[in-house]
Amino acid sequence: MALLEVEDVSTSYGAIEALSGISLRVEAGEIVTLVGANGAGKTTTLMTISGVLKPRAGSVRFEGQEVVGVPAHELVGRGLAHSPEGRRIFSRMTVLENLELGAFGRDDRDGIQKDLDHVFELFPILGERRSQTGGTLSGGEQQMLALGRAMMSRPKLLLLDEPSLGLAPLIVQKIFEVIRTLNSEGVTVLLVEQNARTALKLAHRGYVLETGRITLTDTGANLLANPEVQSAYLGE
Ligand SMILES: Nc1ncnc2c1ncn2[C@@H]1O[C@H](COP(=O)(O)OP(=O)(O)OP(=O)(O)O)[C@@H](O)[C@H]1O
Ligand SMILES: [Mg+2]
Repeated sequence: MALLEVEDVSTSYGAIEALSGISLRVEAGEIVTLVGANGAGKTTTLMTISGVLKPRAGSVRFEGQEVVGVPAHELVGRGLAHSPEGRRIFSRMTVLENLELGAFGRDDRDGIQKDLDHVFELFPILGERRSQTGGTLSGGEQQMLALGRAMMSRPKLLLLDEPSLGLAPLIVQKIFEVIRTLNSEGVTVLLVEQNARTALKLAHRGYVLETGRITLTDTGANLLANPEVQSAYLGE
């Protein structure tokens, strides 16, 4: 049994079908990436998995259990965290308050403190700025905060939507480094990225999504070496 199994999922926005019967799986311990052009349905896929959107058809199983229809906040409690596209941090709340929100629903005070220390260890700048409001952070710091907030729910599976979008190369490198560290600590990751090359280098496996359909799946290394992937997504 895989940690996450998506089977024949179709999701629509009104009359517009964004996903047309996609199937994918993520095994515990993996980093899996979803590659696709603008509008292919990457964000819709993550939102369907995390319970923000309800699919018209199909099944999403997390740890073997059907989760279609389960509210998003309950899934967070079960270990499924989603760091959405565009960061969505609370700009009037402090860094610390944003992080504490990520631990909403947990009551293990010691564990929460440990996770908070871990976030500050991975992102020292967030520790320095813990009393500043989120809105005063740079784009890169806000992305770190979004990732930190997701970590605070102690996820088994982390869904990341474009964590490097619009960030300077050095910050991008830092974000990817942290994703690798979290994975080595046991967090399973499903990653959506415009930066397909970096994502495929990091990922164990990948799926190519084209207008709502999975057209290709392979190891990250094989997808990097695939001429079709190279010309469509790697600019070669
Ligand atoms: N709220 C919405 N209402 C109607 N259509 C939508 C909505 N959100 C997305 N869509 C459509 O669904 C399709 C998939 O969009 P989605 O945002 O999942 O793509 P994406 O792969 O994440 O794209 P991007 O790379 O631009 O983030 C697109 O055709 C898009 O126009
Ligand atoms: Mg998107």
